[in-house]
Amino acid sequence: MNIDRRSFIAALGGAVAIETMSSEALADALEHHMIEHLDQTAIGQSSERTQRPYRRGIGSVFVLSGSGDGVFGANKLEPMPPNPTLLDFFNLRFAPANHVLQSATRALKTGMNEETILACLLHDVVLSLMKPDHGWWGAQLIEPYVSERVSWAIRYHQALRFYPDTSVGYEYPEMYNRLFGKDYVPAPHVKAAYTYARNHKWYMNARLITVNDLYAFDPNAKVSMDPFVDIIGRHFKQPKEGLGNDNSPVAHMWRTLANPDLPL
Ligand SMILES: [Fe+2]
Repeated sequence: MNIDRRSFIAALGGAVAIETMSSEALADALEHHMIEHLDQTAIGQSSERTQRPYRRGIGSVFVLSGSGDGVFGANKLEPMPPNPTLLDFFNLRFAPANHVLQSATRALKTGMNEETILACLLHDVVLSLMKPDHGWWGAQLIEPYVSERVSWAIRYHQALRFYPDTSVGYEYPEMYNRLFGKDYVPAPHVKAAYTYARNHKWYMNARLITVNDLYAFDPNAKVSMDPFVDIIGRHFKQPKEGLGNDNSPVAHMWRTLANPDLPL
């Protein structure tokens, strides 16, 4: 197989990144590159070739010119500090984080409690890493650092998004008709999650995320992290080693966000 040397070096993060790699890692990376190249050649020969050179559900830190759906802007990836905090991730990996900031701002202005405000602030940050099943991924990402109620609410907000609740003024999002089609029926696991959450004592915590979510897509909204710094301080257990360095069950997820250019 002919290897395009330039694209292989670029795929590994450039010549500087390669210098820091061991020869075993480099050999592994070469093998991965060849397998991928082979797969792409096979796809190219099939008739079903997509226009987009990446999967739709890829996290926005992996798409250099933005996420492809307009939610996040272009990614300028700055190095993380040695012991990164949640605020560092907001500044350097989740930015501009406009949607979650708008969502949390609405929760704050409408007098919701601090756990709900924090849940709104964190409910979609995992979209930087992964989009499918983002409620589950998003809850997992923060689970060791927040109350059970906050991660529970984030896990179930995804399923609740598909089901209206007129008691709090939540309607099925028009955007979903465009994304999924008018006749879309949520997958069985989403329906099951909704049924479970609907009858749970914390239902309203997840439901309020969806309520604020609905009003948090204003392209002209001016948002700031300032009102949330103290709330994070009170409700997010920041590990002293830094997120990604604390050997928690989810540390690898934060490390991947910190270093999405690593080849392995
Ligand atoms: Fe969401």
